[in-house]
Amino acid sequence: MRTARLTLDPAFTVAPVPRRLFGSFVEHMGRCVYTGIYEPGHPSADADGLRGDVLELVKELGPTVVRYPGGNFVSGFEWEDSVGPKDQRPRRLDRAWRTTETNQFGLAEFSTWARAAGVEPMMAVNLGTRGLQDACNLLEYSNHASGSKFSDLRVAHGSKDPFDIKLWCLGNELDGPWQTGHKTAHEYGRLAAETGRAMRLIDPDVELVAVGSSSRSMPTFGQWEDTVLELAYDTVDYISLHAYYEEHDGDAGSFLASGRDMDLFIEAVVATADAVRARGRHSKKINLSFDEWNVWYQSRPHHMPGTEPWDPTEPDERAPRLIEDEYSVTDAVVVGTLLHSLLRHADRVHIGAQAQLVNVIGLLRSEPGGPAWKQSIAYPFERMRHLAVGEVLQVGVRSDRYETAQFGDVDIVDAAATWDEENSVLALFVANRDLSESAGVSVDLRGFASLTAVRSAEVLAAAEGQDRHTTNADQHDAVGLRPLTGVEFADGRLRVELPPLSWGVVTLHAR
Ligand code: AHR
Repeated sequence: MRTARLTLDPAFTVAPVPRRLFGSFVEHMGRCVYTGIYEPGHPSADADGLRGDVLELVKELGPTVVRYPGGNFVSGFEWEDSVGPKDQRPRRLDRAWRTTETNQFGLAEFSTWARAAGVEPMMAVNLGTRGLQDACNLLEYSNHASGSKFSDLRVAHGSKDPFDIKLWCLGNELDGPWQTGHKTAHEYGRLAAETGRAMRLIDPDVELVAVGSSSRSMPTFGQWEDTVLELAYDTVDYISLHAYYEEHDGDAGSFLASGRDMDLFIEAVVATADAVRARGRHSKKINLSFDEWNVWYQSRPHHMPGTEPWDPTEPDERAPRLIEDEYSVTDAVVVGTLLHSLLRHADRVHIGAQAQLVNVIGLLRSEPGGPAWKQSIAYPFERMRHLAVGEVLQVGVRSDRYETAQFGDVDIVDAAATWDEENSVLALFVANRDLSESAGVSVDLRGFASLTAVRSAEVLAAAEGQDRHTTNADQHDAVGLRPLTGVEFADGRLRVELPPLSWGVVTLHAR
């Protein structure tokens, strides 16, 4: 048995849990929108074509903020195509994913869906093929009440009330050579600064996210953030981070330690942003928007559009099956630890958006005309979204360690915790990265005088007859949470035994 000792104390906190940390992402890509959240004619669809079964699952997951409409898609998006009478909207070739965009789902439909789902929209503007004026036109259409060209156009299109979108991404992954309209840091930094400044003249309340690095392994990482922030510091509020992880060549140990990469990425961006702050004698701090993260098996054969020409005769041209990864028990444990990393950095990471919500590397899966279900990775997301309340706690960890090829020595037990003082509820999120041994975790909670009892204890692990590769592809509820037994709490000490390769959550309260 592996062992770990954790210490938590209400005096040692990180920051309040940021409401926007548990966000997700809807891109016009593959089947995220079409046959994902939107499918007119589906038995569960409402009059607007929104899938009711998917909406119900989204409400259970509870993402707080949802980024839209891309992604790489946004760098060629002409937003005017997606508004107004549906029968007059043009079909456009989408260069990012080499599909035909029908524009049957657009700005107004997203706004309706977001309201129904109870999520805050996070809108991205096209700084790939477009620029300042178009971003301003879109903002005027979305947020200005009336009495101007684009606000009156929205009203004429049937949306009397402004969409009132506060959070705006100034482009997407423009550091990447794959991006339509890829730019140098200098070109992008100037464009972001000028666009953001002009947008604030239309709506001073917007919050702006500058494009950061597409991953920590980008050759421009660090220099990109430094230059962009040097040029746009006064205008923007956040800098973005994107990261996708996968298991390479059966190296499960390194894959399970992906949270270590996320820690290092976040800490490096914070250091860079603070160096620019010091150099420029700025008083405000730039916070972080980790607005694309997940497990994504990029090296597996997928249907990824490459250099093949558009084929308008393909029956699924509107919604091809792109990167529909099926997630396993192992992936769910990794996703749990990625969420731990975000939570542990809640003092600077104020926005998180898991990518993506449905079908495309999705928390959820849905079949055209058929059912919708949760993937394994949805469970840690859902539990942490609902149970991480109050203040994030510092976690003192003394854990057995293991050697990884990518990150050296790493803790076997990884954890994050929150303290809801108002309701006297402590939530401990904890993972065992060992593939074959259980972990005995002892938690010193003597500082929490009011806690008297365990309220809930659940775990996600391979059940009997399953292994670490089991997914929900065939049996849609095969992988999920089950009660964690044998949890003891006495004299301010909690004792938990986590099965091999597992992610769990224990809450305690004052009974
Ligand atoms: O989420 C899938 C794609 O990954 C997004 O479009 C892009 O921003 C990233 O490279």
